[in-house]
Amino acid sequence: MRERKRGPARIVRTLLPVVFVFGLAVGNASTVAAQVENQESPIVTCEACHGDPRFLVGKETAEEQAALLVPDSLLLDTVHSQLKCVDCHPGPAMGYPHGPQVAVGCGTCHESEQTDWEVSIHALDVIEDGDAPTCAGCHGVHEVYSIDDRRSPTYPLNVATMCGRCHADPSIIGTYFSSPEEAQARVAVEQYHETVHGAALERAGLALSATCNDCHESHRVLPASSPESSVNRANVVKTCGDCHVGILETYEEGSAHGAAYREHLRGPTGHEAPACVDCHSAHSIVEADEPRWFVGVVEECGKCHEDVYETYFSTYHGQVTALGFELTAKCSDCHTPHNMRPATDPESSVHPLNLVETCARCHPEANQSFVRYYAHGDASDRERYPVLFWSWLFMTTLLVSVWTFFGLHSLFWLIRVTIERARGTGHGT
Ligand code: HEC
Ligand code: HEC
Ligand code: HEC
Ligand code: HEC
Ligand code: HEC
Ligand code: HEC
Ligand code: HEC
Ligand code: HEC
Ligand code: HEC
Ligand code: HEC
Ligand code: HEC
Repeated sequence: MRERKRGPARIVRTLLPVVFVFGLAVGNASTVAAQVENQESPIVTCEACHGDPRFLVGKETAEEQAALLVPDSLLLDTVHSQLKCVDCHPGPAMGYPHGPQVAVGCGTCHESEQTDWEVSIHALDVIEDGDAPTCAGCHGVHEVYSIDDRRSPTYPLNVATMCGRCHADPSIIGTYFSSPEEAQARVAVEQYHETVHGAALERAGLALSATCNDCHESHRVLPASSPESSVNRANVVKTCGDCHVGILETYEEGSAHGAAYREHLRGPTGHEAPACVDCHSAHSIVEADEPRWFVGVVEECGKCHEDVYETYFSTYHGQVTALGFELTAKCSDCHTPHNMRPATDPESSVHPLNLVETCARCHPEANQSFVRYYAHGDASDRERYPVLFWSWLFMTTLLVSVWTFFGLHSLFWLIRVTIERARGTGHGT
């Protein structure tokens, strides 16, 4: 807090506004200022004028006029309570009239935030069109509060509204994000409120949940296509993993997806390994036991694992899932959600040694013979499913022979009956 001076200086200071009132009353601010300067001491405070609307004239609109009212008390309980007006406005210290005065950049004292902001898409836009936020645009000009202060626009519970000022404004999103591939940017704010993160923050008041700047950063905000962006495919797993530490560990340590993600490998269908957002999305993340999402994930697996996807739907579990039955086994029930491993890996949930346990979650009676059931039986795959292949071949051959035999039999029979009828020698005629 600023120390108030005592003694004669204080008396002069108290009297000054009276002098000003008088001076302004006769309509000449410069004369007043000159009188003050003549007292040979630069004791004229900003407060004397900027704390009293009567001195603040000369702006065109009422709004501009009101913005000139910056009493000392405005700074008192902000993060900048230790600063003097002239720390940010060195110019006016020279006296009045002080002419158009620009404040020093916030970056003068906050270098690292400035450096981050300067490379952001926002800074780029500020230079070109001025539609994006500057420091004061997000934090406020004089009423700058700590990021842990409930009143700050940057407090977690207020961030979505703060970003939403522009990112939910139809004129901004209509101008900047009108192309079809920018659909995500148009709905970001609207969808956020419905997500598990938004609900946790806004309804449950859980300030630890993710909001815009947790995923996008606060200052180095970049388009998803930028390799440096925190939401770029290459970095998003770490971004989510900063909070979901345990899941990141599982995913990274040993899962086939984590390994392929790290090595930039592609699967059999040419797809890259899935990152968190492929299965969970970015702005529509719901609770992981939400049934509709869960069924959607099966389709997502299918985009990259086409063959097993098809075989799954030819099994009992798959057909029941297709009918909309939610309790039956989906891909991740047998393969775990984040620890997918090849069946040959002894730690895989579908390794022969672990299958009983995996199936027993839902089939308590499961034993070694029960788990011989084929989860992806593909009868045309002789190498992988020989028993299935040979039984299929045997059954098919049997079926075809039987049908052929009886088909031919009936045909010959028909021919014979027709001929006999024509000759008039048929049975019973
Ligand atoms: C004698 C009265 C007076 C004093 C003292 C005074 N100002 Fe001002 N100030 C004004 C008036 C009137 C305006 C609006 C008219 C103008 O732009 O000149 C203004 C405008 C400003 C502006 C905005 C300029 C702009 O272009 O919009 C800033 C910033 C400012 N003052 C800062 C200060 C600071 C900091 C101090 C103290 C070091 C101070 N003033 C002292 C009367 C004063
Ligand atoms: C932390 C830095 C900081 C401090 C401290 C500070 N200001 Fe400012 N002030 C700013 C910034 C930034 C602006 C916006 C400048 C701009 O728009 O270019 C501003 C704008 C203003 C304006 C113009 C408002 C307008 O919209 O025209 C006035 C008047 C003003 N300040 C007066 C003061 C007074 C009086 C004090 C001391 C009580 C003070 N400022 C303390 C940073 C500061
Ligand atoms: C798009 C909005 C936005 C802009 C623009 C912005 N900030 Fe921030 N800033 C935030 C948010 C949100 C936080 C809170 C971060 C957090 O909770 O970790 C923050 C945090 C801060 C902090 C506190 C950092 C800390 O970890 O204690 C400072 C200081 C800061 N910003 C300064 C600036 C400066 C200086 C600029 C301009 C160069 C700026 N900000 C521009 C949104 C913004
Ligand atoms: C003259 C130096 C100076 C200028 C210019 C300045 N600040 Fe600060 N700022 C400080 C100081 C000193 C602190 C207090 C640091 C502390 O308490 O640890 C601070 C603290 C902050 C914090 C709180 C960080 C936290 O941990 O919660 C934010 C946010 C902030 N400033 C934003 C701004 C913005 C926005 C501007 C421009 C409008 C600005 N600052 C201009 C010196 C400055
Ligand atoms: C003052 C308005 C404003 C505020 C506040 C604002 N933004 Fe922006 N933002 C923009 C504009 C305008 C663009 C587009 C810039 C361009 O493309 O030139 C943009 C671009 C972006 C982009 C890149 C989108 C793309 O596809 O290029 C992201 C991500 C973003 N903002 C996130 C945020 C976040 C997160 C916040 C809050 C912490 C925020 N913005 C606050 C105006 C704003
Ligand atoms: C849980 C993390 C997360 C949260 C919270 C989040 N986003 Fe996003 N956002 C992403 C990801 C990841 C992308 C990249 C698109 C994708 O991968 O589908 C993205 C994309 C965007 C884009 C488009 C960027 C581009 O270049 O296409 C904008 C704009 C955006 N988000 C703004 C916001 C705003 C505003 C909020 C807060 C209301 C927010 N986001 C909250 C993760 C998040
Ligand atoms: C974006 C594409 C993609 C999605 C979506 C995807 N995967 Fe994968 N999956 C891969 C890639 C790439 C590999 C590594 C393949 C390799 O190493 O040959 C892999 C490996 C696997 C493995 C290990 C088997 C092996 O051959 O290494 C299993 C099991 C697996 N995925 C199951 C799933 C399940 C279950 C889902 C849905 C919950 C799923 N995957 C979603 C791309 C994907
Ligand atoms: C291949 C698809 C896929 C990928 C990739 C994926 N998840 Fe999941 N995730 C799931 C499925 C399916 C569930 C539901 C598990 C259940 O309830 O049985 C789930 C559940 C969750 C849960 C809820 C906890 C639980 O186990 O129920 C969180 C949190 C989560 N995932 C975060 C992440 C994060 C963070 C990443 C990235 C490191 C990620 N997920 C990557 C499919 C995926
Ligand atoms: C700032 C921390 C933070 C970040 C970053 C974050 N989350 Fe979360 N997430 C949470 C918290 C806290 C919850 C718990 C909300 C609740 O239980 O109500 C949660 C919940 C979830 C859930 C639902 C879990 C369940 O039990 O059903 C999923 C899925 C999820 N997050 C996925 C993601 C993904 C994917 C990303 C990255 C795009 C991400 N999260 C980024 C903090 C975070
Ligand atoms: C009832 C449990 C179960 C369900 C449901 C299930 N799987 Fe499997 N999956 C297995 C078993 C057991 C194996 C190993 C034996 C085999 O290949 O038939 C396997 C093998 C795989 C493999 C090959 C692994 C390797 O090492 O070659 C992939 C990939 C796979 N499943 C993906 C999926 C996908 C995608 C789904 C959903 C569309 C799914 N699974 C549904 C149990 C299941
Ligand atoms: C998430 C729970 C779940 C898991 C895990 C699961 N199943 Fe099922 N399964 C079901 C449900 C539900 C049904 C249908 C109910 C019924 O008819 O008993 C079913 C039906 C079946 C059926 C046909 C009906 C029957 O009981 O004969 C077989 C065979 C079967 N499962 C085998 C397996 C095998 C083998 C595994 C492990 C590789 C497995 N299941 C894992 C939930 C599961």
